[in-house]
Amino acid sequence: MDLINQIKKLKKEKNAIILTHCYQNIEIDEVSDFVGDSLYLSQMAAKTNADIIVFAGVFFMAQSAKLLSPNKKVLLPNPQSGCLMADMIDLENLKIFKEKHPNIPVVCYINSNAEIKANCDICCTSSNAIDVVSSLKTDKVLFVPDTYLGKYVQSKLQNIEVITFNGFCPTHLRIRVEDIEQARKTYKDALILAHPECHQEIIKRADFTGSTKEIMDYAKKSDCKRFVVATEKGVVDRLNRDSKLNNWNKEFILINENIICPNMKKNTLNDIYKTLLGETNEIILDEKIIAPAKQCIEKMLQLKSN
Ligand code: 13P
Ligand code: SF4
Repeated sequence: MDLINQIKKLKKEKNAIILTHCYQNIEIDEVSDFVGDSLYLSQMAAKTNADIIVFAGVFFMAQSAKLLSPNKKVLLPNPQSGCLMADMIDLENLKIFKEKHPNIPVVCYINSNAEIKANCDICCTSSNAIDVVSSLKTDKVLFVPDTYLGKYVQSKLQNIEVITFNGFCPTHLRIRVEDIEQARKTYKDALILAHPECHQEIIKRADFTGSTKEIMDYAKKSDCKRFVVATEKGVVDRLNRDSKLNNWNKEFILINENIICPNMKKNTLNDIYKTLLGETNEIILDEKIIAPAKQCIEKMLQLKSN
């Protein structure tokens, strides 16, 4: 039996599901139950009746699934797949940041580790960051760890001051203004779509900015036939696949061939098979942080369903 069928068989035997982020290697979609962005996958993790969740994504995503379903076994296929941005903030520098700006609510991007979430007021993803910040009805917020997503939120909200921590995504920051200028020259008919983790000079020049899902929805609905995409390669691969499968006749071009998140690409089909077979690489959380970190994510999910 080939690897894909072996994984599917194991999933059935163990009542397991596989949640897959759009930045994963595209062949993983074949064994996945849900493929999407951080917000969608966290909603699916909260709802599932499965006994085991295999999270094909990075560490903070598997941790968030565990927080939302603490009684389930959550497995990360390759334990080396961390998020470089999430690791830019630890408890010590969060404390210093809060002390520098006392008595201000703290919004944390879901791209953060559980102990950070446990010490923040509410979580957000790139899909709902603007809604989450404005829901706080305050004149100032602290935003961690991504300074660029924070600056993007600030550009959309005039009445709130967004004070950002200095984290960033090294993958999205590889996109340069020259890439946009070159794309405009080479593909005159194309629209440029960017993720809000990009530098504001990129966002300023893009035709549309949105989260993974927003970019995918926008591209699907648009009448345009060609798009240059300023986010991770996995999004471009899936858009080109879906265009072929559904006869959209649309072409998606990655803005620069280096926009690949190395850690997202660490999970392989073989890792998924091995982790499910042996139930290895389980996410274990410190009991003390489960309740506050879970609350941080649940506040965001409740807001979404209001
Ligand atoms: P999304 O919130 O769009 O899924 O993005 C997650 C991420 O890691 C972007 O770099
Ligand atoms: Fe983290 Fe950037 Fe990779 Fe997203 S693309 S998982 S923010 S390092």
